[in-house]
Amino acid sequence: MVVRWSDGAMLRAHALWLFENQMGDVTIDERTREGKTDPADLPDAGILVAAAVGGNGDLEASWRDGSVARYHSGWLRHIADERHRPRASIPTPVEWTTADFVEPVTVDGPATLTDDIALHEFLDALARYGLVRLEGLDTTRDVLPTLGRRIGALRDTNFGITWPVSVDIKPTSTANTSLPLPPHTDLPTRETPPGFQMLHCLVNTCTAGFSTMADGYAVVRHLREHQPDVHDVLANTNWVFFNRSPEHDHRWTGPLIDYGAPGMPLTLRAFHPLRAFPDMDDTEVPAAYAALREFSRLAGSDEFQMRYPFRPGDLVAFDNRRLLHGRASIDVDGGRRELHGTYIDHDEVYSRLRVLSRHLSRS
Ligand SMILES: [Fe+2]
Repeated sequence: MVVRWSDGAMLRAHALWLFENQMGDVTIDERTREGKTDPADLPDAGILVAAAVGGNGDLEASWRDGSVARYHSGWLRHIADERHRPRASIPTPVEWTTADFVEPVTVDGPATLTDDIALHEFLDALARYGLVRLEGLDTTRDVLPTLGRRIGALRDTNFGITWPVSVDIKPTSTANTSLPLPPHTDLPTRETPPGFQMLHCLVNTCTAGFSTMADGYAVVRHLREHQPDVHDVLANTNWVFFNRSPEHDHRWTGPLIDYGAPGMPLTLRAFHPLRAFPDMDDTEVPAAYAALREFSRLAGSDEFQMRYPFRPGDLVAFDNRRLLHGRASIDVDGGRRELHGTYIDHDEVYSRLRVLSRHLSRS
């Protein structure tokens, strides 16, 4: 069936797709709004014998047995307009360099905890730029879980649901030393690294230890356009990433520029303390190291990398698979620096964005 609207919009609908989407508790359960057809029970496509537009604009499909199914015109139109697709309520990523921003896009922190319009503004900017700073928050450890409850489930890892970042006597991660952290993404040891990361600054009396951020998508585009050989090496040579903590043994092998399967978001696997073994032909290793050097140089250059102080009460949220974050070395004699961190997957942020978009467009 082809449905046409007077403004030119069109939807091509297969008879069996219409069959399994009948309203009125026929093939869609009214309580759950989910389908209840076992594909084994699907009829043949010849079951559809006629179609018409009803008086109220709904579509009416007539089946071979004489029954009639109805479809709300608004529901059909949202599919014709492609508003059913996963990316529909999610803004298209906007790449940036330090020519566009010298500090993260910043919004009022407390408002995101209570106001849905402010929360939508925050998450929309996060999906767009991959980086947003909330400012003016309390400096207590319940801020992250509270913000998490506003969005969705936080992602647990071997570090726990939330975790401290401070200089430890017996560190289990480079993050908890005073060493500098070059531009990186967290947990490339996972098949699917965490989608977003949130870091909340509780205390910072250090004069050193500035935070850094670079848009990995902009770095990848630069390489693709100006150094395609380097790009291709980074996209096609694998490294084994390996977590060496005493109680865990996470591993994954993949390229630094990981395009994944068709339709998946580009993931950067770039945490060099966990990059353990080349997983490539011996002859490819020299070029792979040269490409790594060039990637890190670019990601840490003034063109791509912003540097900014992390103030108590600031919370920085960023796309962990897109943004390259880092920090300068910490001067441990110069003060105290305590952060509280967590991960939350793309699915949770995008789900909240879709729900907020739906609710706010109605009010
Ligand atoms: Fe990190």
